[in-house]
Amino acid sequence: MESLLAYSAPLEGRRGLLRLDFNENTIGPSPKVVEAIRAIPADHYAIYPEYDGLREAVAAALRASPGAAPAGAGTGRTAASATGVDAGSGLTGSAAALRPEQIGLFNGVDAAIHAVFQAYGGPGECLLTTSPTFGYYTPCARMQGMAIEAIPYLLPDFAFPLEAIRAALTGPPSGAAEGWRPPRLLLLCNPNNPTGTRLAPEAVLALAAAAPHTLVVVDELYEAFTGDSVLPLLLDPGAPTSGSQPSGRQIHPEDAASAAAAMAADPFAGCPNLLVLRSLSKTAGIAGLRIGFAIGHAAVVDRISRVSGPYDINSFAVTAAFAALGDQAYVEAYVAEVLEARQWLLEQLAAAGVRHHADGGNYLLIWPDRPAAEVDQALREAGILVRSMAGKPLIDGALRVSLGTREQMECFWGAWCRIGAGAS
Ligand SMILES: Cc1ncc(COP(=O)(O)O)c(C=O)c1O
Repeated sequence: MESLLAYSAPLEGRRGLLRLDFNENTIGPSPKVVEAIRAIPADHYAIYPEYDGLREAVAAALRASPGAAPAGAGTGRTAASATGVDAGSGLTGSAAALRPEQIGLFNGVDAAIHAVFQAYGGPGECLLTTSPTFGYYTPCARMQGMAIEAIPYLLPDFAFPLEAIRAALTGPPSGAAEGWRPPRLLLLCNPNNPTGTRLAPEAVLALAAAAPHTLVVVDELYEAFTGDSVLPLLLDPGAPTSGSQPSGRQIHPEDAASAAAAMAADPFAGCPNLLVLRSLSKTAGIAGLRIGFAIGHAAVVDRISRVSGPYDINSFAVTAAFAALGDQAYVEAYVAEVLEARQWLLEQLAAAGVRHHADGGNYLLIWPDRPAAEVDQALREAGILVRSMAGKPLIDGALRVSLGTREQMECFWGAWCRIGAGAS
């Protein structure tokens, strides 16, 4: 305990500024979410939260929109064929439906990650992951006394280190065969925060199939910006997994009913060691309310739910989640707006000759000409927050900038140019 370092992020004093530091939704949730929260009668504050129907609503939302790529998101995909990966999971057949017990509800995906480590981690076990990646996996592994093997992304473009991950999953380093055990956990952030690296969902399934004794957790927090999700492959094996248009579909009560009723094939039957993380923080715009989901085999969901408290998600988050899940069109419109703004900013960066790296997710990396800390501070003085990547392997010296609306990106770019942060 004494040697543990808290997950360090600048968490205070962010209101009133243009927040491009945490990859949050930059405009807030759907008006329907606001309305639903306002309509909660005050006497309900006194009652412990109730979760009836929420898992069914998540299943219905995922069924309607399991991970369809937003318009314009189909570029730069690491196709399974290009990586030479064959899914090999034996998944064929008709559409499958998620059952409520396959959906775990958590106080944000952070809490789901914490629960995964508590339920599966322990001294002598190993976490396999990539580097640099989302900063909360490491402290969670350390809390459990786990060893960590973090394989670097491949320069120059931060490509996914597929061969090295596969090798670390399936066999000992040469000469170290004795006592070798497969990693207990593989954490894949797809697309990766902060490099944006995309991994084909088929490759994720292939890794899970190759390592039946490892729980493969795929953190799909930013999948809405790419469509690279394993869920379409599991829920509807015949459907395309990326590059399609947004569905624009609303969730109706009949959808929830039919999702619950359609006890078709178990989507995780072929990959019981795979867990998918999804959140309403980044796209639906309710990061402050804290709600996220862990989707997988019922036995895995049960195991991680056992280490969580009975009322960890509060009633406001539950009400907001129902409303947010029911307004997919809002999320799709926001994602489309962000992708358009992304394109605009990329054009400015390219024209000005600023070193940058952008792939999946609602964020990109930019390398200023001046020291990153200085530019970080100057932007803050201009009312704009970005995240310094100081100390992170491979990207020390870069700033991670979250993407918002076109107007917000214009504001950022104006400030960048005014303070002379890099190239011209
Ligand atoms: C990759 C990744 N996973 C999980 C989280 C946490 O998400 P939530 O707000 O649902 O706890 C974040 C938040 O920044 C993230 O970037």
